[in-house]
Amino acid sequence: MNITWSKYVQGINTLYYSRKLRFDDMFAPQYEPLFALDKDKPLKILEIGCGPGALAGALHRWYPQAQITAIDRDSEFIRFAKKNESGITFLEGDATALPFDDNTFDVTISNTVSEHIEPSAFYSEQRRVLKPSGICLVLSSRRGLHSSAPCLSPTEYEKQFWKTLEPFDDSMTKYAVCQYPMSEAELPAAMEKYGFDHVLTGFVVADLTPDHPKFSSELAHDIINAGRCTALDAVDSALYSMPEHVTQQAANEMKGLINARYDQRIAQYDHGDKQWDTSVSIIMVVRGQK
Ligand SMILES: C[S@@+](CC[C@H](N)C(=O)[O-])C[C@H]1O[C@@H](n2cnc3c(N)ncnc32)[C@H](O)[C@@H]1O
Repeated sequence: MNITWSKYVQGINTLYYSRKLRFDDMFAPQYEPLFALDKDKPLKILEIGCGPGALAGALHRWYPQAQITAIDRDSEFIRFAKKNESGITFLEGDATALPFDDNTFDVTISNTVSEHIEPSAFYSEQRRVLKPSGICLVLSSRRGLHSSAPCLSPTEYEKQFWKTLEPFDDSMTKYAVCQYPMSEAELPAAMEKYGFDHVLTGFVVADLTPDHPKFSSELAHDIINAGRCTALDAVDSALYSMPEHVTQQAANEMKGLINARYDQRIAQYDHGDKQWDTSVSIIMVVRGQK
């Protein structure tokens, strides 16, 4: 049982609710031309490092004829995904030793995974399991635009909590997080280097501004609460990974303060008190062919 990522790095709620938004159907018209997959074919698609399963769920909606398999090393993510996303085969497994025969899939896809896995292993395993002419899609988050509402600014207590932990936080190296980051130029170059042809790139802009009138109040709440989930999960990750420096009491105090801030933001939204805080994610899509 491997729960390293979900316990110490990013919790289930952080990944599931942020990705549910990023892969909402309203953004499908941006993703689909970049993926350039035939919707009418019964494609065999493999998602690598699927986390709690939000992208796999979107692929199932966007490509209803496809047979989708999704794999992740983290047992908790797979358990959650099986419960919450139907019509997909979720499996525990390692992206650097995929449990599939050569030439099995028409498409491999991953989102924010390439930066965490050594590139020759990441690409060569996908190339191996792809059929001849199969498509490899790598999605990678780029720096977006993020501006917070004033009521969401961390309190002094919260700032101090994080500042005190800074010298002890070695989670990036300890859990091999983001050891292989690549620029917008390096990503397609790597795909070519590891044997893919006809490499193309493109960008999806996912604008999530809760006060924009185009969003329903349910979606606006989801946008605000996705931020809440990320902030709460970060406290748990700190508690689990640095137990000698974080007490349960301090973690509870932090969560109380975080919830108060986000409750206030929700109340502002419900009263029509616009803040125009925004989160614009830019997702790079790199597409290559075996
Ligand atoms: C940043 S998360 C992204 C998860 C998911 N793609 C999403 O966007 O929500 C990185 C994921 O890669 C998984 N991962 C990292 N190394 C892996 C490996 N060698 N094999 C399988 N999964 C791996 C982690 O467990 C984690 O779920």
